[in-house]
Amino acid sequence: RSWEVVVVGSVNADLVVGVERRPAPGETVLGSDLATLPGGKGANQAVAAARLGGRVGIVGRIGDDGHGELLRGALAADGVDLAHLTVTEGAPSGVALITIGPDGDNSIIVSPGANARLAPEDIAAAADMIGRASVVSFQLEVPLPAVEAAARAAAEAGARVVLNLSPPAPVPDELLGRCDPLVVNEHEAAYLLGGARESAAETAAALVRSGARSVVVTLGAEGVVVADGEGASAVPSPKAEAVDTTGAGDAFTAALCLRLARGDSLRDAARYATRAGAAAVRKKGAQSSYPTPDELPDPPGE
Ligand code: RIB
Ligand code: NA
Repeated sequence: RSWEVVVVGSVNADLVVGVERRPAPGETVLGSDLATLPGGKGANQAVAAARLGGRVGIVGRIGDDGHGELLRGALAADGVDLAHLTVTEGAPSGVALITIGPDGDNSIIVSPGANARLAPEDIAAAADMIGRASVVSFQLEVPLPAVEAAARAAAEAGARVVLNLSPPAPVPDELLGRCDPLVVNEHEAAYLLGGARESAAETAAALVRSGARSVVVTLGAEGVVVADGEGASAVPSPKAEAVDTTGAGDAFTAALCLRLARGDSLRDAARYATRAGAAAVRKKGAQSSYPTPDELPDPPGE
């Protein structure tokens, strides 16, 4: 297969400001200097997988503005195939307004811009790339009809479908049934299940029962729980001092996709991917924090 990972997803300019605390309605607070950084869950995944050595393509849309130039340049610098990154005339690029708190925690508002124009026609145009991928990865910052069309095309061509349910939205049964795995945090899982379960293992098992072929529940510093029809098991994460957690989940999912493309079991791929996620929380920004293989922390001891 020509591409190990093809990402169908969003490309955003991240406008990032550090704050001591977030303003209440009607209030003004002063923050740090503004940083304008390449982001978007789709582009982040593409860059993360490419930086780890993967052969990667992206299917997405940018605007015909200065942010679009920045975003294209960032993807190109990491060697992502841009044949299906389309410039949308008259639309702004996606933008994420991000505040970083003193503990490295983030709050994000996404203005989709050109991402909202990604349509089934774009997927048809990219059918060759999608059909020659080992793994096709999705998130939900682009419209669901494009995601559904691409997941169908991927599955029909024998590619493995990975969906990160972020931001959370209802998933049609057909799409859920293609997810191998569905990647969710506890908040997204509770959204899908209509409430929290006793443990992450029960959450993951419930999501498999609801139709996903396999599931990864991410628990931040606690690692992840993986589950398939055979059962659930916990995978720890290396320890990391959090400077900026923005995009750490994207680094995790990208590394997971790459290792699945290379034939790892879900558990082994998750074990590798927690190292990429831990590396990403240690530095500022999303793409700017992603590791090369040399920069991965050691796996935690069992
Ligand atoms: O997951 C992190 C990403 O979410 C940011 O880069 C931002 O663009 C939003 O899409
Ligand atoms: Na980071």
